[in-house]
Amino acid sequence: MDLGVKGSSVFISGGGEGIGKKVALMLAEEEADIAVADIDYPKAESTANEVKQLGARALSFQLDVTNQDQVNEVIQKTLDEFKKIDILVNVPGRGERKSFLETTRDDWDFSVHLNLYGPLNCTRAVINHMVEQKRGKIATVISDAAKVGEPRNCVYAAAKAGVVAFTKSLAQEVGRYGINVNCISLGATNTPGGIRSRADFIKMAGGKMTEEEFLAKVVKAYPLGRLGEVEDAANAICFLVSDRAAFITGQTLSVSGGYSMVS
Ligand SMILES: NC(=O)c1ccc[n+]([C@@H]2O[C@H](COP(=O)([O-])OP(=O)(O)OC[C@H]3O[C@@H](n4cnc5c(N)ncnc54)[C@H](O)[C@@H]3O)[C@@H](O)[C@H]2O)c1
Repeated sequence: MDLGVKGSSVFISGGGEGIGKKVALMLAEEEADIAVADIDYPKAESTANEVKQLGARALSFQLDVTNQDQVNEVIQKTLDEFKKIDILVNVPGRGERKSFLETTRDDWDFSVHLNLYGPLNCTRAVINHMVEQKRGKIATVISDAAKVGEPRNCVYAAAKAGVVAFTKSLAQEVGRYGINVNCISLGATNTPGGIRSRADFIKMAGGKMTEEEFLAKVVKAYPLGRLGEVEDAANAICFLVSDRAAFITGQTLSVSGGYSMVS
């Protein structure tokens, strides 16, 4: 299916691996130009090289999304090169992974800065441009934790829920400029980050369970009987930033095998 993104300029934060990388490659196959930014520069560069092999234009940047000055700088460099940004995809996120009873202010800052300020920084940096060009799509990856909560990730869940409210509010502000703003909400997904997080939770549980035992327990909460794959998340993101989703805004689409069925 033609997504209608041919010739679009796309900025993907966290595009160095996992979901962001898959989105970069899928949109490059649709002949979009891709700017990949990641805290891990070699990974961003590697994604950009794969994008180029598909015949699309690509840029790569080292970026920490929690640093507003850095975000502004790389968005400006992208605009200098591509002359426009039509699509912003915000991917990075990670929880504090400890009981709230044990958290410190530093843990809260970590979760809020990465999960809430990251998308705010990137969105703020592109939004005036999108308003001027009267066109834009913004998609941010959140978690079903925002809807149903998540023990040992209380501040993460709060920050992700903040992104949902931000998304709805911004969608109301900028809809008149032809800008769609949406969230993709994940459950446990087999990304490199998801697999690392699983290992941490097994360790936190005293390391008594094998990964297979842990997975069998987790999967019981998923009506579709499996965890998510990178492709599941990327398919939904590519849809939401495409022309096919032109009349969808302010929404949160769960891509979690039915883990949570609340809106
Ligand atoms: N994987 C899961 O099980 C799961 C579940 C629910 C929600 N999510 C959400 O999905 C998104 C992707 O998470 P993931 O763990 O699957 O990651 P991932 O494996 O898809 O990769 C995340 C990328 O972001 C980059 N990154 C990390 N911190 C960054 C920063 N400060 N600035 C720029 N880039 C940074 C990493 O280097 C990496 O390349 C996050 O928003 C996360 O909260 C994931």
